[in-house]
This record gives sequence, C-alpha cells and structure tokens, in this order.
Amino acid sequence: MLQNAIFITGAGQRIGLFLAKQVLLHTDYPVVFTYRSEKPGVAELIALGAIGFQVDFNQVNAEQTLITQLQQTVASLRAVVHNASTWASDEDVANDFTLYDSMFKTHVELPYRLNVALKPLLDASDSALKDIVAITDTSVDLVNDQHIAYLASKTALNNLTKNFAKKYAPEIKVNAIAPGLILFNEGDTSEYKQKRLTQSAIPIEPGAIVIWQALEYLLNSSYTTGISLPVDGGKNLI
Ligand SMILES: NC(=O)c1ccc[n+]([C@@H]2O[C@H](COP(=O)([O-])OP(=O)(O)OC[C@H]3O[C@@H](n4cnc5c(N)ncnc54)[C@H](OP(=O)(O)O)[C@@H]3O)[C@@H](O)[C@H]2O)c1
Repeated sequence: MLQNAIFITGAGQRIGLFLAKQVLLHTDYPVVFTYRSEKPGVAELIALGAIGFQVDFNQVNAEQTLITQLQQTVASLRAVVHNASTWASDEDVANDFTLYDSMFKTHVELPYRLNVALKPLLDASDSALKDIVAITDTSVDLVNDQHIAYLASKTALNNLTKNFAKKYAPEIKVNAIAPGLILFNEGDTSEYKQKRLTQSAIPIEPGAIVIWQALEYLLNSSYTTGISLPVDGGKNLI
C-alpha cells in the first residue's frame, strides 16, 4: 500500500503527464494516475514507478470502480490533482451532445465524488500539508460565447473547489490553478495560434512547466487555500 501518494487524473499526455513526471523525478511521493487511452506517456510513467488505472469516466460505474481501486492500492494521499478534461466548443456539442455530459462528468461530478471519497486517504497522510488542486481555466471569469458548456462546467469546478476549501480547512488545502494558453492543440492553425498569442500580455506558448511551478507553490504553501491561481500570461490585461 502506497503512503503519501500524489494522485493525478488524466496523466497520459501533455500537462498531466508533465506534472506526474515532475513529481516522480523531483519528490519522494509515489504517483498514482488515471489514463483513458494507451499513449507513450502511460508507459513512460509506469517505467518511472507510477501506478496507472485505465478508466473512461463516461462509462457507468467508472468512478466507483476507480475509488475502490484507489482504496485497495493507497494507504494515504499527500495530494489529489483534478487534471482530466474534455475541451469541446458549443459547435462540437451541437454535433454530439454526449460531449456536454462528458464535460460535466469529468469537470464537476468526478472531482466532487473524489473529494468526498478520498478525504479519509488525505486525512491518513502523515504530511503536515495535504492538498486538493483542481485545474480549471482562466476564462471562467470571462465571456466566451463559443465555449458556453465547457466554461459552465469549469466554473462549477472552480465553485466547488472554493466550497471544499472551506469544508476541509484547516487540515486540507483546496485550490484551483486557472491556466490560460499553455499548450496549443495538434491541428491548431497558425492563424488561430497568432490570435491566441495576442490575447495575453506575455504572448508565448509557455508549456506545462508553468503549471508545475504553480502546483509546486500550492503544495509547499502552508497558508494558501480557497484561491484560484491564474497562470495566463496576464490575459486580463488585454
Ligand atoms: N492546454 C492548455 O493550454 C490549457 C488551457 C486551459 C486549461 N487547461 C486545463 O489544463 C488541464 C490539462 O490540459 P491538457 O491540455 O494537458 O489536456 P488534454 O491534453 O486534453 O488531456 C486531458 C486528459 O484527460 C483525459 N480525459 C478526458 N476525458 C476523459 C474521460 N471521460 N475519461 C478518462 N479520461 C479522460 C484525456 O484522456 P485521452 O488521452 O484518452 O483523451 C487526456 O489524457 C485540463 O484540465 C485543461 O482543461 C489547459
């Protein structure tokens, strides 16, 4: 049974993968993660000693199965990171309404259920600091009429994060990281990239390192709870 593990959802690629690797390479905490599709990153994490559970949260009973697997594998948790996400536009949702359900399942229902079910494992940690960190989106505070469903679900995640911060204080800190542009998606056109870059005061594609910097800060802080930490290159300044 693992002690003081850090649990990260959706760590098979990109930001989640980067965070899991940083924990494995730079801390003594074991890593437990979820992934949906087999990707090179999954094998990479397993080779580094992480334990991965394959799960599609859209499947019936997936959350309960995962919770049982965690309870059978982990004796205590140092931190939980809600990273798994689906990014769909309202046009995508109009073509396939299951995407709406998927976003609310992954961004709202899953973090809510995990926060409740995993509290005893966080309580069992002998670490002085224990954390829940939700990766939201800096645009939860902005208007965007192309991503109404996505932002509604991420806004709900932001809201539940604040309320769990109050409920679980002072033992467990509960915070959000609110990214702006971090990594472009495969297939983004150069026109789209240019448009996104001009929306930040710091017009770069920074990469997952900046989310790791934010996560490290939150994990090491003894006095920060209930916040949403923007990592967005000053998007509100434009
Ligand atoms: N990248 C950015 O610039 C950016 C900007 C704002 C916010 N964020 C937030 O930062 C976090 C990481 O972003 P990212 O770009 O690294 O995300 P990503 O590449 O889309 O990865 C998200 C992971 O979640 C998994 N996932 C999604 N739906 C799932 C489901 N129903 N069941 C199981 N797993 C599921 C995916 O599995 P599969 O690999 O099988 O698809 C994927 O590996 C997300 O919360 C995102 O909203 C990112």
